[in-house]
Amino acid sequence: MAPRTLRRRPALVLAATALCAALLAGSSPAAAGRDAPPGRAADERVRDLLRRMTLDEKIGQMTQIAVIRLQGDCRESGGELGEACLRTVLRDHAVGSVLSGGGMGPPRNTPADWARMVNAVQKYALEHSRLHIPVLYGVDAVHGHNNVLGATVFPHQIGLAATWDPALVRSAADATARAVAATGIDWNFAPVADLARDRRWGRYYETYGEDPLLAGALAAAAVRGTEGARGAKRVAATVKHLGGYSEPANGHDRVPADVSQRYLQDTLLAPYRTAIRAGAQSVMVNSGALNGVPATASRHLLTDVLRRQWGFTGVTVSDWQDVRALWTKYKVAADYPHAIALAVNAGVDMTMEPYEAGEFADGLRAAVRSGLVSRARIDEAAGRVLRMKARLGLFERPFADAGRANTEVLGADRDLARRAAAASQVLLRNDKGVLPIPPSARKIVVAGAHADDMVDQAGGWTVGWQRVPDGVRLPGTTVLEGIEEAAPAGTRVVHAPDARRAAEEARTADVTVVVVGEKAAAEGEADSPRPELAADQQALVSSLKASGRPVVVVVLAGRPLVLGGAAGTDGLLMSWLPGTEGGHAVADVLFGKVNPAGRLPVSWPRRTGNEPLYYQQLPGTNAGAESAHDVAYDFGDGLSYTTYRVDSLALDAPSVPAGREVGMTVRVSNTGARDGDLVLPVYASRPVSGVLAPPRKLVAFTTVRLGAGQSRTVRLTVPASALAVTPGDLDGAGPPHVEQGAYVLTTGERTATLDVSRGAPAGNARP
Ligand code: NOJ
Repeated sequence: MAPRTLRRRPALVLAATALCAALLAGSSPAAAGRDAPPGRAADERVRDLLRRMTLDEKIGQMTQIAVIRLQGDCRESGGELGEACLRTVLRDHAVGSVLSGGGMGPPRNTPADWARMVNAVQKYALEHSRLHIPVLYGVDAVHGHNNVLGATVFPHQIGLAATWDPALVRSAADATARAVAATGIDWNFAPVADLARDRRWGRYYETYGEDPLLAGALAAAAVRGTEGARGAKRVAATVKHLGGYSEPANGHDRVPADVSQRYLQDTLLAPYRTAIRAGAQSVMVNSGALNGVPATASRHLLTDVLRRQWGFTGVTVSDWQDVRALWTKYKVAADYPHAIALAVNAGVDMTMEPYEAGEFADGLRAAVRSGLVSRARIDEAAGRVLRMKARLGLFERPFADAGRANTEVLGADRDLARRAAAASQVLLRNDKGVLPIPPSARKIVVAGAHADDMVDQAGGWTVGWQRVPDGVRLPGTTVLEGIEEAAPAGTRVVHAPDARRAAEEARTADVTVVVVGEKAAAEGEADSPRPELAADQQALVSSLKASGRPVVVVVLAGRPLVLGGAAGTDGLLMSWLPGTEGGHAVADVLFGKVNPAGRLPVSWPRRTGNEPLYYQQLPGTNAGAESAHDVAYDFGDGLSYTTYRVDSLALDAPSVPAGREVGMTVRVSNTGARDGDLVLPVYASRPVSGVLAPPRKLVAFTTVRLGAGQSRTVRLTVPASALAVTPGDLDGAGPPHVEQGAYVLTTGERTATLDVSRGAPAGNARP
């Protein structure tokens, strides 16, 4: 690659190029982002650029292309960056953003190679675009900087949700953003704010669980962690996939969903709103269709709700090829220009058009010329993209120091990832106190194919899109290795990967730990019409149970699985997809180094076939089997090695006007002999309500650290929006409103009745 020499370079580019040279020479970078101009200066820069930009250059800012179009033969082969490809995309089409989709990286996968690749793309854009505008580089770092080999892989979101700990989620996002920044990348396509309500859906594990309050709080924490990180560069978060992506009609990814406006507004949209209000700089649009309208074409969703109701001012990016899909798949547009016009007018600022920047440019130019899209809308969209670049400090600090990337990324934050994975463990059964495994245990048998399998332990979106590619060794610790390392001297660990041998060895074991689970996969390929434990794994556990000796099942999976023949063991530990440090974390809990504190962020079904399944199921009149919320383990369940008691619950006032938040104090005690972390949820129920209310609804939560025997009083607040519902008949469309009347608040065994009196007449809790 031979960059052309520039005849006239503005001072900005000279500075950027000099900085690049310094960085490539290995000089130490200043802390990131501190050079970013304040808001007014950024606005002025954007106005100035827009004044000087051509229509094509503005369209370029609205385009995002996959890095594979810049590599090799400029098609999909990957390889080294190619001068001809860079020229077409970054100079001729003036493309404003590049992404690495799952598994799309440099030919040699090291952090330093990533940084060199991203720096080179950036350098080319700065030097060859007419106005020397930096590119925004996006990546899916959804559980650590997961595409980069050697980066620490955190638990997937569903596991982090089981911690119920926003501070921990924030720290994980901060660590991820620092790793992302160290490789020169400024935009992370995370967090996911979709809800996990249908276990058949392949992206269940990418969510923070089934509850809108919990998922919203954790997604907001991830946004703060990402955007507050102080690494080599600033990193923007993306709240995705707006909205209601998670309940496709038949459980298969990207199949259209039909949801009532009430359910959409009160439940599905709530977590995105909370996360966006935490300051997210970008939003990615749902690939699917809702109520007969593709989200990418919904002006109601992307403008009326997102911008007008929620006040979002950042960048809205489409998902993969979704603007084109309005024409080719959904057929709501007759050709590409009309599809582009639909999306852009609905509110899409940037189109993820991974392969065909030129076609997008031609289409949008044609749409502008024929009056389908106004120039004002182009300025608005391109202006938002430029403003995001300015806010990130990209004009001042476009590069990362490739010389430092390996040191900053390889193995970084392992202790944090181990702590997060340990905190995500949910102990669901512990009969006869089988756990923690006592130091007196002489023989531990470890069985199950998942016991020594880093690929399935890490899950989808790890190094590759679907999973760690064949032939690639992911550094990390498997459950077997974790157990071997943690077992006390004098305890023999027998690995029995073969089912027959495992059954034999189990007969003389003090305990058998059998690790079962799912195969790693992502998106549609992870769909599972029957989310159950595979028959051979059920048979294995049954044969181990027949030994008559204690058996502990450890599940490595992205969703609760119907256990069938594997149910009913003495111990059951849900470990989710715990990442590279997962083996240590599981062992920490099995041997009692960590007292388990995770709680289910989802409902665990008893049988297959009752999807969607969630604890907020509304009441009905069918009293037949399985028609109610019929679960093996409920939302919020999880055991500990100690015991707790909720001593009292006191509301600040017995009555509040509608639309006000509700304060309370709760006294809790650790009544056992071990220190522990208690998750304290507060649920609301309605004795009588205008629109159907679930039997309980999470309205507040906190976590409390309690030493053995210790008591503490904690404060919680219920936001008015947690009590609000869309009022009215079948055609109810909002705005959400807190109904007057009685609300029963419950935590543990304690309840208190709150009387909500008349507040503002309508929309008193407008979200
Ligand atoms: C498609 C996925 O739906 C989305 O989550 C991801 O961010 C983009 N591809 C980019 O890889």
